[in-house]
Amino acid sequence: ASYKLLLLPGDGIGPEVAAGMQVVLEALKETGLATFETETDLVGGCALDAHGSPLADATLQRAKDADAILLGAVGGPKWAGVAYENRPEAGLLRLRKELDLFANLRPAICYPALAEASALKRELVEGLDIMIVRELTGGVYFGEPKEITVLEDGSKRAVDTQVYTTAEIERIAHVAFDLAGKRSGRVASAEKHNVMKSGVLWKEVVTKVHAEHYADLQLEHILADNCAMQLVRRPKQFDVLVTDNLFGDVLSDIAAMLTGSLGMLPSASLGAVDAGGLRRALYEPVHGSAPDIAGQDKANPIAMIGSLAMCLRYSFGLGDAADALDGAITDALSGGARTADIAGEGTNPIGTRAMAAAVADALRAR
Ligand code: NAI
Ligand code: MG
Repeated sequence: ASYKLLLLPGDGIGPEVAAGMQVVLEALKETGLATFETETDLVGGCALDAHGSPLADATLQRAKDADAILLGAVGGPKWAGVAYENRPEAGLLRLRKELDLFANLRPAICYPALAEASALKRELVEGLDIMIVRELTGGVYFGEPKEITVLEDGSKRAVDTQVYTTAEIERIAHVAFDLAGKRSGRVASAEKHNVMKSGVLWKEVVTKVHAEHYADLQLEHILADNCAMQLVRRPKQFDVLVTDNLFGDVLSDIAAMLTGSLGMLPSASLGAVDAGGLRRALYEPVHGSAPDIAGQDKANPIAMIGSLAMCLRYSFGLGDAADALDGAITDALSGGARTADIAGEGTNPIGTRAMAAAVADALRAR
């Protein structure tokens, strides 16, 4: 089958890492592993410059029609002064909201060749492969009321509200268990039922989804604060970790520090399965537009290429192609390919294009 990919390179290093990814797409095609039709469009600051909006309606429609979206990064100092609703990030937020991308998947993988770059000791992280599943469209970031009011004495009172419904927890739990079924079969669910009602409901619903649909998998409940500690103490105890929006924000940043560089971390944001049986999905590196190195062929394209691997795996079920691509990244690193962010002392770094070519060559050599 041929799938339709929408490429949204965006701003800063976005177009550079997206070009690197396209070199890998070519290699996937040559090797017969996967073939795609691609369309390219604007998002973020470049879209604002061209259309007066960070996400044009026509682009949104293309995103809805595509089988999957691959996005580089948006934003930069050039647009620091634009109105809040027109800032480049608003384009990305609108895309996530319109497509109802409620499940954010952030793998934390520690490549053997990079174990020294981790914040932890080598033996704690070597071979690390965690998948954090963060609920992305509910919780305290969106709950109402959300306000700051002025009290009689002139001081203020701020309110954020954590809200979760059964349906919201069920759908994220299904994503986590489905993933675990294709991995080690273990899910840890993090909340704070000891002090939060939303935590009580979270635990109850995850327990029920597990019992009714995934009784063959292992489920462990863990308090979110303990989870943060365990991620640093003994991270390899986790496989799939499912949690709410707020805890997921914090826990995924902790996990990121276990792996080395921001330039290595891919992500997926998944929505519901549509009428055609495909899941709405957007894949993007965790990093931003890196204005400090943009236009210099210095950016590490691996986060973007890893995002493509996630796309193969989670949108199209092309597990073999995804494994081959992940393997090619490992091979390129083991062969000594290093961009500046992961070069370490005494190693000569290569550029974005050379790194992408190294991964594409490693793919062809498999
Ligand atoms: P950033 O992720 O762009 O950069 C942070 C640091 O990491 C910089 O020193 C950068 O050079 C380095 N870095 C990032 N990606 C790299 C890569 N692939 N290879 C090598 N080094 C890399 O975060 P920052 O500086 O906070 O934000 C810059 C702009 O990006 C802002 O406008 C921000 O709003 C936007 N941003 C966009 C995101 C997105 O599109 N999803 C996410 C985060 C930030
Ligand atoms: Mg964060």
